[in-house]
Amino acid sequence: MAGNTIRSSRTSVVSLAGEQPLLPASRSRSPFSRAQGGQLSAGRSIDGEVGMSEEDGLIHHHLVDSVEPPLHGRVVDLGCGRGPTLAAFARRFPIVHLTGVDRSTASVEAARELLADHAGGSDVLVTDLREPVPLPDSCADAVVSYNVLECLPDAPAFLAEIWRLLKPGGRAVVAHVDFDSIMVAGVDRDLDRRICHAFTDDQQQWMDHADGRIGRKLPGLVQASPLISERVATWVTSSTELVGQAARRIENIRQALTLTASRRKGLVDVDEVEAWHAAVQEAAAGARFFFAETAVVVTAKRLA
Ligand SMILES: C[S@@+](CC[C@H](N)C(=O)[O-])C[C@H]1O[C@@H](n2cnc3c(N)ncnc32)[C@H](O)[C@@H]1O
Repeated sequence: MAGNTIRSSRTSVVSLAGEQPLLPASRSRSPFSRAQGGQLSAGRSIDGEVGMSEEDGLIHHHLVDSVEPPLHGRVVDLGCGRGPTLAAFARRFPIVHLTGVDRSTASVEAARELLADHAGGSDVLVTDLREPVPLPDSCADAVVSYNVLECLPDAPAFLAEIWRLLKPGGRAVVAHVDFDSIMVAGVDRDLDRRICHAFTDDQQQWMDHADGRIGRKLPGLVQASPLISERVATWVTSSTELVGQAARRIENIRQALTLTASRRKGLVDVDEVEAWHAAVQEAAAGARFFFAETAVVVTAKRLA
């Protein structure tokens, strides 16, 4: 599959994507059930009561590869969920100190448990990212944030906060799926467009704000922030089978839009969601299925 390319006059341009290896089919296919490794699979569909985390494991490792904290450095994950990115850091950098921040108490507790044995030490704080983070200026060698920004009403303030937390010379990696990039083959065109656009514009109850097209805006937002943008890349997850991240996202879309429709909100009704879901299953059974979604990954640094 051809990679994506984002062009920018001020940052180097990288296209990382391509067909990603599939995650094991045995992983949870429901965003509400427990997956292997004790993580909840989710995406955008679960509220803060049970916590949530993106289960596309490969991207967490890619985020880790994007910043190189010093051996004894400190990494801060803003909107860490249940801690999958911090866990990936723990595996690669066993003595780096890890700090997670999230508003969801359930997620924070899960992340604490996940990182309990990390040799470098960890702390995970319950904090609302719409407010200043209760950490000192210049405390972090690296700051990471994945799939959080769309929920925050003031993206420039959030990026300025990342700058404040970073030490001079420190690196940030901010990444987000652009939900309007979701591609599903094997389904009626008009219904598919309606469902995918409804999902992009869906604001679930746990979200203060929703901008499903934030991925494509990230490069510009970082350019306009005090951070120095270094690299813009895309990370494409694709699959010809209804397994792994493809299965999780399809269920995520179904759950989210069903909940929204049951509140008599949103752009589609429950019958349309069910018709779409049945068509996806049929396409997968008939080998006509294809799924892809693109995350935009921006690496930036604080100069001074
Ligand atoms: C889709 S999840 C992503 C979690 C994690 N980064 C991952 O990769 O699994 C979005 C996270 O943002 C958190 N979040 C949303 N709005 C927030 C806010 N205002 N303050 C703090 N956390 C927030 C949610 O609790 C959730 O854990």
